[in-house]
Amino acid sequence: MVATADGRATIDGRSGPIGNEADRELFHELRAQVDAVLVGAGTVRIERYGRLVRDPERRRRREEAGLAPDPLAVIASARLALPPDIPLLQDPDSQVVILTASPAAVEGSRARVDYLRPDDVSSPADQREERPERLALAPMLRGLRSAYGVGTILCEGGPVLNRSLLQEGLVDELFLSVAPTLGAGHGSGIVDGPPLEPPRAMELVSVMEAEGHLFLRFRLPV
Ligand SMILES: NC(=O)c1ccc[n+]([C@@H]2O[C@H](COP(=O)([O-])OP(=O)(O)OC[C@H]3O[C@@H](n4cnc5c(N)ncnc54)[C@H](OP(=O)(O)O)[C@@H]3O)[C@@H](O)[C@H]2O)c1
Repeated sequence: MVATADGRATIDGRSGPIGNEADRELFHELRAQVDAVLVGAGTVRIERYGRLVRDPERRRRREEAGLAPDPLAVIASARLALPPDIPLLQDPDSQVVILTASPAAVEGSRARVDYLRPDDVSSPADQREERPERLALAPMLRGLRSAYGVGTILCEGGPVLNRSLLQEGLVDELFLSVAPTLGAGHGSGIVDGPPLEPPRAMELVSVMEAEGHLFLRFRLPV
C-alpha cells in the first residue's frame, strides 16, 4: 500500500499520484515473487487492472524461480460487480479466480476465469461474517491453496478488502510506502470500514528511503 504522510490512500480517487518511481518498482517486484495477487473489486474497477507482470524480464525471472510467468489474479467481489471490459479480464494470457458469493458469471471475458464460491470451499458455518455482502476470506484462501497450489499471496488492497483480511487475522506482513505529501480530504486510509477490534500492533522489519519517500516493511505477529 502507498499513503500520503497523513495516511490517505488516494489523491483524486487514485493511488498513482502518491507514489514515486521507487514505489512503482517495489510494487512490480513484489508481484514478481508471489503465487497470487489478491485485489478487491473496487480497486480493479477504479484502477482498471491489466496483465499483472508485463515486463518479459520479470516473467523470465519468475519462471527461473519455478513460478508461473504470471501470478494467479484473484479478485474478491461478493456481488460480482465487474465490467468485462477491464483489461485484465480481456487478456487471454491471464488466469483469474474470482472469489464471489454470486452464482452469476462475467460475460464476455477473454481471460481464463474461474470462480471460487463459499459452497466450494467450506461448510456454511465457516461463512459467518459481520456483513452479508462480505465473504469470510479464510476458507477462500484455503480453497486457493488446495485448488490452485497458492502458497504466497500479495494483497494489493484496497482499503475495504484490507480491513476484511486484517479482521480475520490473515495478514502477516505490510509493505507501506509513505510519500512526503499531505492529502487531507482525499479518500480513506489504507484500511477502511468498521474499527478493527482489537487494533493490530505491528513490528517494524525495515525502512528504506528514496527521494524523500519512505518504504516501510512491517510484520504482524500472529
Ligand atoms: N494507496 C493504495 O496503495 C491503494 C491500493 C489499492 C486501492 N487503492 C484505492 O482504493 C480505492 C478503492 O477502495 P475500496 O476500499 O472500495 O477497494 P477494494 O477493497 O478493492 O474493493 C472493495 C470491494 O471489494 C470486494 N470485497 C472486499 N472485501 C470483500 C470480502 N470480504 N468478500 C467479498 N468481496 C469483498 C467488494 O466487492 P463487490 O462490491 O463487487 O462485492 C467490495 O465492495 C480506489 O480509489 C483505489 O485507487 C489505493
